[in-house]
Amino acid sequence: MEETNKKQREFWSGKGGDVWVEKQNAMDVMLEPLGVAALSKLPDDLGEHILDIGCGCGSTTLSIAEQLSENSKITGVDISEPMLDQARKLATERNLLNADFQVMDIQTELKEENIYSAAFSRFGVMFFEAPVPAFKNIYRSLQQEAKFCFVCWQSPQLNPWQSLSIQVIKEFVDLPSPPKRSPGPFAFAEVDYLESIMSDSGFADISIESHEQEVTMFTGKSLEDASNDYLSINPVVTEMLKEAPESTKKDISSSLQELFKTYSDGDGLHFPSATWLVSAKK
Ligand SMILES: C[S@@+](CC[C@H](N)C(=O)[O-])C[C@H]1O[C@@H](n2cnc3c(N)ncnc32)[C@H](O)[C@@H]1O
Repeated sequence: MEETNKKQREFWSGKGGDVWVEKQNAMDVMLEPLGVAALSKLPDDLGEHILDIGCGCGSTTLSIAEQLSENSKITGVDISEPMLDQARKLATERNLLNADFQVMDIQTELKEENIYSAAFSRFGVMFFEAPVPAFKNIYRSLQQEAKFCFVCWQSPQLNPWQSLSIQVIKEFVDLPSPPKRSPGPFAFAEVDYLESIMSDSGFADISIESHEQEVTMFTGKSLEDASNDYLSINPVVTEMLKEAPESTKKDISSSLQELFKTYSDGDGLHFPSATWLVSAKK
């Protein structure tokens, strides 16, 4: 088996992917407004073939497909088999024939050249072991002048749904946080690093905009379900807790529930969030 991105593939095609399939509606409530903000950076006319990177269960792929003009299509790519199975199922249910999905590691398997008229990603580009080769593949796959836009998280400190929860976990497990820039939701927290990845990959007209918006998580969930869901949706947290005994996980869940109370209005948790809206062209 290919060694590159092995941990990510194991997470997203294993238990992590299954959890995302199960929780997709809740994840969409949280992520949808941020994806819409990123999508607004692409031109109205997306051209004939759009690429959705790390498309997961296909929410963004399918909503873009619904807006496309006749003769245009969108391809969603991802390393997660279960998430793409879900995406295909939803495409069939919604009768969207202009969306297709491919299992593909963007860093090692995207070999196309001058194909796509635009590329997009909602939180699907921060998980590469080597971002520049991955972004060079994206660059090469685009037609000349085509635009690439994505949204990714700023630092955990500006995203208390993550940083406060990690503080709670660290009261129970004595594990170091993953090194800065390592694959995971916060890999692109540093704006200079993000800018260098884009320019080293060849992109021009790079714009990185700070975007702050309240996010709603775990609507309709009890605090217990919300904290258990939180513990299973993030590859970094899953890795931190891999060796922890069940009793510790229960204690962590109880403490998280206490923390979440502060942010709950009885129908979901409301947190401030900070993301980067990135756009550039080939
Ligand atoms: C945080 S999820 C976002 C999913 C989806 N875009 C959404 O907003 O619901 C990150 C996605 O990136 C995918 N991913 C991670 N590494 C990848 C790689 N090397 N190539 C393609 N997809 C990858 C994961 O499988 C996962 O579906």
